Amino acid sequence: HHHIDHATPEKVRAAIAANHTHADIPDYETFAKYQAEGGYTALQDLRENGDWEAVQDKVLASGLRGLGGAGFPSGKKWGFVRANPGPRYLAVNGDEGEPGTFKDRYYLERTPHLFLEGMLIAAWAVEAERCYIYMRDEYPAVLHILAEEIKALEDAGIVAPGFIDLRRGAGAYICGEESAMIESIEGKRGLPRHRPPYVAQVGLFGQPTLVHNIETLHWVARICREGPETLSSTEKNGRVGLRSYSVSGRVAKPGVYLLPAGSTITDIIEAAGGMAEGHVFKAYQPGGPSSGLLPASINDVPLDFDTLQPLGTFIGSAAVVVLSDQDKARDAALNMLRFFEDESCGQCTPCRVGCEKAVKLMQADKWDTDLLDELSTAMVDASICGLGQAAPNPIRLTMKHFPEEI
Ligand code: NAI
Ligand code: SF4
Repeated sequence: HHHIDHATPEKVRAAIAANHTHADIPDYETFAKYQAEGGYTALQDLRENGDWEAVQDKVLASGLRGLGGAGFPSGKKWGFVRANPGPRYLAVNGDEGEPGTFKDRYYLERTPHLFLEGMLIAAWAVEAERCYIYMRDEYPAVLHILAEEIKALEDAGIVAPGFIDLRRGAGAYICGEESAMIESIEGKRGLPRHRPPYVAQVGLFGQPTLVHNIETLHWVARICREGPETLSSTEKNGRVGLRSYSVSGRVAKPGVYLLPAGSTITDIIEAAGGMAEGHVFKAYQPGGPSSGLLPASINDVPLDFDTLQPLGTFIGSAAVVVLSDQDKARDAALNMLRFFEDESCGQCTPCRVGCEKAVKLMQADKWDTDLLDELSTAMVDASICGLGQAAPNPIRLTMKHFPEEI
């Protein structure tokens, strides 16, 4: 990667343009088109005579939860951030590093302004001094689109030049962890911080910071335009709302599918055109490697926030990867642990050494399940951040559901 001086947005844009001339830019909704169809009127109305608490009420009524994967009620965050004196910042997490997750990219390559307007509404709601977008560098088309469209917003006078600061990640998974992302934006190595304090209190440059995922902000714009019903009117299997499932693996048509939040794996595979030819459904990853693997027999659980907790896992970013009779759960689990070993920031021993040790143990023909279990407990209990705490999920779920393979 070229070195980039982040100080001026112009330099960042020039570097993005120079570096990504090879990017295949898809057709997307430009500023002119978005504005012609009523875009940015919600933002302008709010800026003129809006009441932030009324918008917060709408967001709460919609049931919108953090779509990076944690599912924290989005409206509540605004209150936490506002409770602390300014200057405040907004930091957008566009790192989308969870393997199998590509929904943020999907929306950004189609309707970038829904995200940008949602971001500016959230920035208005918490009176943010500046917005930082931390964007995954592996999405060259997205970087190009954002650079162009932020320029269009500046030219149209919707934001002051420099109000939106577009930053490039450098390929580290851990920089998607919110406090590591903040360290990285500050120009430091991306090491997660201890919590508390939460970033809502002490975030970027020590100031209260609102952190939202790309898709979350996309929905903020839609809620302001279409009302909370855009999410809250869908109900299925006792669950309310919609989820953007990134579906890949052994399905006929991998892609992003916007489905009711109460969808089961059966519904999701059906939406993705069924299993790929010649493949029999065997197992699935419900939400990224951090969520491990479930067997095909668990096929009637809605894949939503909270519902997978009793099964020892979670939906996370809804990265559904489907495995078939031609795959081995143990190979998939080992692959996941290798990923965590690679991506561990190394700051704490249970995660740094634990991932490495787990990979060694999982390479054996016969797994030492007692030792792996003990190791998993140590990692869950003593790791600083979610990476080390969730890394044992693939180990434990594979031991539980696929004992014949290990
Ligand atoms: P978390 O539940 O600890 O926090 C979620 C958010 O709520 C954070 O912004 C946190 O600051 C805020 N928060 C929580 N309690 C708070 C309080 N008492 N006061 C103020 N703010 C509070 O979850 P975390 O560790 O941020 O995220 C974990 C999730 O990230 C997992 O579900 C995982 O699936 C997902 N993930 C997603 C990836 C992606 O590419 N989209 C990559 C890796 C993980
Ligand atoms: Fe770093 Fe892993 Fe510790 Fe997280 S759990 S701080 S990734 S070493």
